[in-house]
Amino acid sequence: MKVVFTVKDLQDALAEQRALNKTIGFVPTMGALHKGHASLVKRSVDENDVTVVSVFVNPTQFNDSTDLDKYPRTLEADCELLGDCGASIVFAPSVGEVYPEPDTREFSYAPIDTVMEGKFRPGHFNGVCQVVSKLFNMVQPTRAYFGEKDFQQLAVIRAMNADQKFGIDIVGCPIVREDDGLAMSSRNTRLSVEERKNALNISRTLFKSRTFAADNTVAETIAKVAEWINATPGLELEYFEIVDGDTLQPVEDWNESPYIVGCITVFCGPVRLIDNIVYKEL
Ligand code: PAF
Repeated sequence: MKVVFTVKDLQDALAEQRALNKTIGFVPTMGALHKGHASLVKRSVDENDVTVVSVFVNPTQFNDSTDLDKYPRTLEADCELLGDCGASIVFAPSVGEVYPEPDTREFSYAPIDTVMEGKFRPGHFNGVCQVVSKLFNMVQPTRAYFGEKDFQQLAVIRAMNADQKFGIDIVGCPIVREDDGLAMSSRNTRLSVEERKNALNISRTLFKSRTFAADNTVAETIAKVAEWINATPGLELEYFEIVDGDTLQPVEDWNESPYIVGCITVFCGPVRLIDNIVYKEL
């Protein structure tokens, strides 16, 4: 496995593979890798000749500078995990390498990027689109892999891929959970023992809500999830929405769409965690 830090070294490493018409799988990450990332990388390794993984904490997608400062940076451990997963190239650029000058491009995919995370983290998806479009141009992959935990991000990336005509096959991969159900996230490492215990109630609530939803309306399910989350000391619900899985628009009735997903964001102490659950699928 090669570790490269510049676009030139990345492209030199890929030139030979491209000349041989090899398929290139790409997994963009911000590092602090865990089993969720490993599942994306392994899938890419299975489906492509070459797998590139980027490790880059993208400053333009953070609307909270403390969150950016506190984001864990663990390149050495990340490379070890990536080697074990069979990645071919790790691309770990500096901020100056990705942004030699400020990126002033604006991406707008309303209403997909204006609801939920878009409402609570203004500018976040613009930053995600800035960096992912740059990385797509640098890597020019055949396929790119994203986790379904960031459900809205995946929808925004699909919209950007279509809008910018990248023609990349965007592959969504299922959420990977800890044995007790907590969705894997780089942010989990910031939870204290007490917060980690409280955080478990997020996935438990979502799973319970699926049973509750079978006999209750959408509005009742939303209210019940809020009640369950807020009954846990140390958890504070930011939002819970039940949406059409394609348009991300709120649904009012279970019969409104064949694909319905509940998306949640909860503060667990100072740590902001997201998760989601499918209520209905095509
Ligand atoms: O999901 C992430 O880790 C990031 O948003 C991404 C896609 C790597 C862009 O920085």
